[in-house]
Amino acid sequence: MPVSQSELTQHFEHVLTLSKVDDTQSVAILKSHYSNAMIVTAAMEASQRLGAKAYIVELASFNHRTAVGNDLTAYVGHTALTDHPAAQQALMAADLVVDTMMLLHSPEQEAILKSGTRILLAVEPPEMLARMLPTVQDKQRVEAAADVFRQASTFKVTSCAGTDFTASLGQYPVVSEYGFADAPGRWDHWPSGFLFSWPNEGSAEGTVVVDVGDILLPFKTYVRDKPITLEISEGFIRKIHGGFDAEYLREYMAHFKDPDVYAFSHIGWGLQPRAQWSAMGLHDKNDAIGMDARAFEGNFLFSTGPNTEVGGPRNTPCHMDIPLRHCSVFLDDSAVVEEGRVVAPQGSLLT
Ligand SMILES: [Fe+2]
Repeated sequence: MPVSQSELTQHFEHVLTLSKVDDTQSVAILKSHYSNAMIVTAAMEASQRLGAKAYIVELASFNHRTAVGNDLTAYVGHTALTDHPAAQQALMAADLVVDTMMLLHSPEQEAILKSGTRILLAVEPPEMLARMLPTVQDKQRVEAAADVFRQASTFKVTSCAGTDFTASLGQYPVVSEYGFADAPGRWDHWPSGFLFSWPNEGSAEGTVVVDVGDILLPFKTYVRDKPITLEISEGFIRKIHGGFDAEYLREYMAHFKDPDVYAFSHIGWGLQPRAQWSAMGLHDKNDAIGMDARAFEGNFLFSTGPNTEVGGPRNTPCHMDIPLRHCSVFLDDSAVVEEGRVVAPQGSLLT
């Protein structure tokens, strides 16, 4: 349903308040020509209502001939901020950046965060922002799960469809996403509500079966034909087989001509009850980047490709996010998700 400008501005005021914006703060709104004008206006007006010093940094759009389609997650790492130190300085000067352009996975984003500036990504349409307006409870649930995740040394996933996957943990941090950026150097994404880490280098092993009904991003398709089987060893996908969906995925990844696209990237699970597995079917492909799919409660979300956002070595532009339903996720052999239902830790359960 459409959301009015006034309602969206009120929502921004709520999220910026949770993000600790007040009259001592400066807020930079990063935009390009494709940014949602309602979001830019709402971010600016809400910042002003809170007494913050707000300003806009507008950059020309970035394009690359390897990139296909309009999805902002389909070509990552290189952005309009690449080799643009003047704009980077302008963003680092702010306490908080509202990113309506998409810097995710870029080394420049990492540098801005390291300076202490917070970043809040907001690129989904107003309907999604309103429906998944973050709450303090979202943070509490995700952080409760993150506390357990940080203690774990192994991550295992199984499913009736045939997934049997393991990875070692500890080399990379656990990242929580709950929809607001409330600590120095914190990056977050409104809407979200999930958590993830990365396998230790070379440790991802086993089989992941992407079943019929599971989702492929950035394609924004539900697997409909036959399950896709991914065979993984020493941290990389070695074989992709199945039916049409497997062939499509194989061809798409091969198009980048980069062995790093097959690396296993972030792994975690969804904790957002207001995100819907079915929502993607109601949106046109250019409406959104698919945060319902990434965040819905009890999913197992894994990805491929880059790990630059945690200082890893792979700055590869192809990034698949693939949320699965009906999986069981285990930390050190203790279940946190059972067949798609969140069961632990206690603090992450819905009350
Ligand atoms: Fe991802």
